[in-house]
Amino acid sequence: MDNLVSSKPAYMFDMDNLFQNLEKICKSRSSCRRFKPDNIPQQAIEKIISIAKLSPYAGGRKNWDIVAVTSQEVKLAMAKAIEETTATTTQGMDQEEAALFNNYSNNFLFFTQAPVLLVPYFRISPVMEALLKQNVTSQLLQWERDNSVKSISCVAMLVLLAAESLGLGACYMTGPLIATNQIGKILELPPGREAGAIIPIGYPYK
Ligand SMILES: Cc1cc2nc3c(=O)[nH]c(=O)nc-3n(C[C@H](O)[C@H](O)[C@H](O)COP(=O)(O)O)c2cc1C
Repeated sequence: MDNLVSSKPAYMFDMDNLFQNLEKICKSRSSCRRFKPDNIPQQAIEKIISIAKLSPYAGGRKNWDIVAVTSQEVKLAMAKAIEETTATTTQGMDQEEAALFNNYSNNFLFFTQAPVLLVPYFRISPVMEALLKQNVTSQLLQWERDNSVKSISCVAMLVLLAAESLGLGACYMTGPLIATNQIGKILELPPGREAGAIIPIGYPYK
């Protein structure tokens, strides 16, 4: 009844509602690192990807895509590559620093428990190479790469919020990308593409 006597236009009430729903989703989201083994319906994954695809992106060209990984074999191959890279990284370190780094990298591997991984990946330097023939400097390439990584951050945030809205847990992970080249090969990403995040998704243990 209040709505009827208010001077606010009707769409403003919808906006209030939208804001409250968005606020609820943002407040209830937190990084999920423990997943139930239950599979996620394919429809839920498709819904999450459909939201991710609404993401803004830098450079005026959509230079990213997203792959869903469900194969346990692939997840374990990724974990092995990360463990090997971590071991190589700590080789030159003294014992104390190696222990600190190993401790830090403990949180790079839990994604293997999640039933699905969403991996947004970007195309490396599509715009500069298309626009400029002679003057593609390393500074321009780095700037463009940074823009691509920032674009993936937007994608990842939408994935997290969409997952939360469906009662699923998720975690934005870049730690595993310490083994980014190996992960690209394991996932058979097209040439010139690089994974920008690993996002495990599943029903959370609350
Ligand atoms: C760019 C980025 C990379 C992240 N990488 C990892 C990761 O590799 N492993 C991990 O356990 N959490 C990772 N996180 C999750 C953060 O640890 C987490 O978002 C932060 O502690 C805040 O907690 P909340 O997400 O529960 O609010 C990452 C978050 C961001 C934004």
